[in-house]
Formats: sequence, structure tokens, C-alpha cells
Amino acid sequence: MTFTIAIDGPAAAGKGTVGRLLAAHFGFAHLDTGLLYRATGRRTLDGLDAVEAAQNLKAEDLKAPDLRTPEVGQAASRVAAIPEVRQALIDFQRAFARRSGGAVLDGRDIGTIICPDAEVKLYVTATDDVRAARRLAELTGSGHDVSYDDVLQDLRLRDARDSARASAPLAAAKDAILLDTSTLTIEQAVATAIAEVERVRGG
Ligand code: CDP
Ligand code: CDP
Repeated sequence: MTFTIAIDGPAAAGKGTVGRLLAAHFGFAHLDTGLLYRATGRRTLDGLDAVEAAQNLKAEDLKAPDLRTPEVGQAASRVAAIPEVRQALIDFQRAFARRSGGAVLDGRDIGTIICPDAEVKLYVTATDDVRAARRLAELTGSGHDVSYDDVLQDLRLRDARDSARASAPLAAAKDAILLDTSTLTIEQAVATAIAEVERVRGG
């Protein structure tokens, strides 16, 4: 059985959290595709060429401890605008999406470019303020010394760059279901997503 759930949306909207819990609920595998770009961007901060870094990405690169910082986020969104970088990461993502047993992928171009035939597409959003507050809590909770303004600026810069690029820009697929998590708890957001998947699976 293959079944793909594609989740897209702007930075820190709750894509990864909803994706992880949806995958756990249905027993599917989950891939946070942002990690591929973060790990590539992280390597360019060490002086590596972006395309080479993407082509030679290793599983252990995805486990580096500082991948969630705004600095690495910015590097990720810069390399993500390079078509050859995106190209180098496509096959892995598509193979993951069609693995047997079901898969959830979250990112920016999953429902539009990576998996245009996904059985379920969600576009997860929240207001800038809510997203910045959530990401700040996450970063300070894991010991990073960042300010609300730094986090807000990082999200806004990345969203603008990700939306404006020519290659696979951040966009909702025409057939995506909109999920605004601004006033939802994680449990409410996940319950809404589960109901959408059940609707498709049942019908
Ligand atoms: O993957 P993405 O960057 O879109 O967001 P995330 O990392 O899943 O979520 C960012 C933060 O918001 C995490 O700390 C989540 O626990 C939190 N969150 C929340 O408080 N309420 C939601 N409905 C969804 C996420
Ligand atoms: O967690 P957050 O939403 O803050 O970011 P992320 O999902 O980890 O993605 C980091 C950056 O990678 C984004 O700002 C995009 O530039 C890029 N990205 C992308 O271009 N395409 C994807 N499918 C996933 C991430």
C-alpha cells in the first residue's frame, strides 16, 4: 500500500509537528524535507559548494545539533533557491513518498512539485506573530539565545525568499486543504488533519 500525505506552508506554521503526529497515528513514515535544505545550508557555512553538498548529503548530516537555528535557516533558504540543489534532492523525496506503508512529507513544494499526485495535501499556516512566538519558545527551550525580533525577521525573510524564487516556490497546491493553526492547539490541529485523511481514505 502506498499513500502520500503532502504538507506545505510557511516557516514554523506547525507542518513538522502535524506531520510527525499524523504519521504516528496512521503508522506512516515521516520526512521533514526542510532538514535536507538545512543540512545542505549548514555545510555551505563550512565553506562547501551548495550543489556538491546536496549531491553528497549523508544521513548523519541530518542529525547535526544546530540545524534549527535562524542562521542555518537562512543558509537553507539561500541554497533552496538554486535549481541544481533542488534537483539533487528530488529522487530521494519521491522514493520516500511512494514507500510501501504510507508516507508523510512536509516542506514547501511537496504538493506542487515533489508529489503532485499525493492522496492528501494540506497547506498549514498561522499568523506571523504566532509562528514567531512558537519558534522562539522552541529555540529558547533548547538553549539557544535568540530574541523574538530575530526569529520574526528570520521567518519573514525566508517566507519572502521562498515565495519569490523561480524554482519550486512556496505555494499551496490548487487541491490543498487549508489548515490555519493560529488558534489551534497541537491536538486540535492534528485532529483536523486526521479527519481530512479519514475522509479521503474512507471515500
Ligand atoms: O515544521 P514547521 O516549521 O512548520 O513548524 P513546527 O516546528 O512543527 O512547529 C513550530 C512550533 O510550534 C513547535 O514548537 C510546535 O510544538 C508548535 N506548535 C504549536 O504550538 N501549536 C500547533 N498547533 C502547532 C505547532
Ligand atoms: O521549520 P521551518 O518551517 O522553519 O523551515 P524548514 O521546513 O526546516 O525549511 C528550511 C528552509 O528550507 C525553508 O525556508 C526553505 O527555503 C527550504 N525548503 C524548501 O525550499 N523546500 C522544502 N521542501 C523544504 C524546505
